[in-house]
Amino acid sequence: MTQCCINPSILSADFVNLEAELGRIANADAVHVDVMDNHFVPNLTIGLPVVQRLQQVSPVPLDAHLMIAEPDRWAPSFADAGLASVTFHVEAAAAPIKLARELRARGSKAGMALRPATPVEPYLDMLTELDMLLIMTVEPGFGGQSFLDVTLPKIRRARRAVEDAGVKVAIQVDGGISEDTIARAAEAGANVFVAGSAVYGAEDPQAAIESLRAAATAAFA
Ligand code: DX5
Ligand code: ZN
Repeated sequence: MTQCCINPSILSADFVNLEAELGRIANADAVHVDVMDNHFVPNLTIGLPVVQRLQQVSPVPLDAHLMIAEPDRWAPSFADAGLASVTFHVEAAAAPIKLARELRARGSKAGMALRPATPVEPYLDMLTELDMLLIMTVEPGFGGQSFLDVTLPKIRRARRAVEDAGVKVAIQVDGGISEDTIARAAEAGANVFVAGSAVYGAEDPQAAIESLRAAATAAFA
């Protein structure tokens, strides 16, 4: 049975009340924290000091998505902060294998993210170095964009490669995940789902998490 995780993104939360916003998603598997530096993506969010405080107060584990230049230099500090999982973009990493090893050595799970147009094939030999592969289903940078169906074949190929290699690597999807799209992503092979606007835009975020989980679980079956 595939383990299904729903990770709401605090990018769609109220940034002036982050602690209270974490309390509204207490039934989530983890909270997805989008770090943007205005270099790798054309948007700026929060940095290490805010993430360190979130880590101290969050009732659920933190799943950081670093949309930053030079992750080799900055990502290890996020692992040192005690985060459950730290994901860097392969397009920005100088030495992704070394970086993944460093994250694991510091006690975090190591995630590697691919933009929608980045192929997965060049990285299949390094799956053993990873705990999670993040396949972006929108161009990174902003919440509330439409799911890109063109990424579905890549999700399928990544799932097949993970099964063939017999490794335990989660496949996360991020961007445009909603009750309308989650089944397609789950059928293709994703098992960790980031949802920003679909959760924080809902009147009852906890109920939205449960509906998303039910839709994904039905699609696995
Ligand atoms: C976009 C971020 C996403 C974003 C998703 O670059 O990485 O995590 O918050 O938002 P939705 O679910 O609204 O597409
Ligand atoms: Zn994200």
